[in-house]
Amino acid sequence: MASLSVPHGGTLINRELTGEARDAALAAAASLPKIPITEWTLSDLELIGIGGFSPLTGFFTKAEWESVLDTMHLPDGTVWTIPVVLPVSEETARSFQVGSRAALVAEDGLIYGTIDITDIWACDKVREAQAVFLTTEDAHPGVARVYEREPWCIGGPITLLRRQTRAQFAEYYFDPAETRKAFADRGWQTVVGFQTRNPVHRAHEYIQKCALETVDALFLNPLVGQTKSDDIPADVRMRSYEVLLKNYYPLDRVFFGAYPAAMRYAGPREAVFHAIVRKNYGCTHFIVGRDHAGVGSYYGTYDAQKIFSNFTAEELGIQPMFFENSFYCQKCDGMASDKTCPHSSEDRYILSGTKVRAILRAGERPSPKFTRPEVADVLVAGLAEVSTVES
Ligand code: ADX
Repeated sequence: MASLSVPHGGTLINRELTGEARDAALAAAASLPKIPITEWTLSDLELIGIGGFSPLTGFFTKAEWESVLDTMHLPDGTVWTIPVVLPVSEETARSFQVGSRAALVAEDGLIYGTIDITDIWACDKVREAQAVFLTTEDAHPGVARVYEREPWCIGGPITLLRRQTRAQFAEYYFDPAETRKAFADRGWQTVVGFQTRNPVHRAHEYIQKCALETVDALFLNPLVGQTKSDDIPADVRMRSYEVLLKNYYPLDRVFFGAYPAAMRYAGPREAVFHAIVRKNYGCTHFIVGRDHAGVGSYYGTYDAQKIFSNFTAEELGIQPMFFENSFYCQKCDGMASDKTCPHSSEDRYILSGTKVRAILRAGERPSPKFTRPEVADVLVAGLAEVSTVES
């Protein structure tokens, strides 16, 4: 009988100190030399600390970075596809030595953790861009992010000493240990993870429900960390999911939680990364649809599915569930995909993300063939709020 997946690498990493140990470590960290970290790195720090990125215990050394770029595995052979680095300026890099400890200080001036430095290295960003994103163009938002990073990196194990305070949706943040327990408590043996960074539409619902036909439960896990500026804000997306779940889902078979990572837009490599992280949260299966984590036309529609054939089922330890491009078909009078629908493209109701955003920003509801009306209302209201704040 299937059972909840073991964490990637075999053990759920916990690099967080709590209680008195944390207080003492924070007090000691105050007199350590400091490394400034961005919002992005802070999110990575937290995900390493709570085990979301198991088996990582810290930020990449150069050897780990090279191994992941060249082989899609860590030096010990564990599958890993995306570098997780601590970028620093050259000046900061040169002020530290291997073997020392530093405090990690976020933009709010607070110490969130420490790092025990095992490597200090200059990063070849163009090489990283080519390997991870398959392009070196800075028009690609993921590549642009890499190029914007500080040029050096500091590697080594971290200790998490403080969590970010969540102003909104705090009730939806769960550690992997908590989701694992929640799934087990509910008696679920197979759980499919769903990643999303977009407003929820009928195709998402369709593929989630197709998956739900064969597994015990769905872990709906929208990414709420940094995304590109024209993506719909996370709080609006979270609200849209709340209303969708309330009206259309069997709540005893769904677990809804935020994924606090930044979006890389690395297409195929990020699909594998997304799967591995959801394995750490306890999922046994993971949905990969069309152009997963893609952007523009950088990746083929199914490249993010094909990449999985590079790995054995054993080394992945999570079962990807692939879905074809899905849509509403007027003749079928329902949701379908190329696999199930014989009709022509004129019969299919398909909207691009850009088009949907334009409709929503004009204050209009997309067709119910595309978005549930309750969801459309939340999106329209949410975007109106955003534009009021922005103007
Ligand atoms: S992603 O960048 O997080 O992958 P998005 O939120 O759009 O973007 O997609 C979430 C998941 O749903 C991904 O696995 C994606 O491949 C899948 N998906 C989105 N739209 C469709 C669709 N029309 N048909 C099939 N799969 C889709």
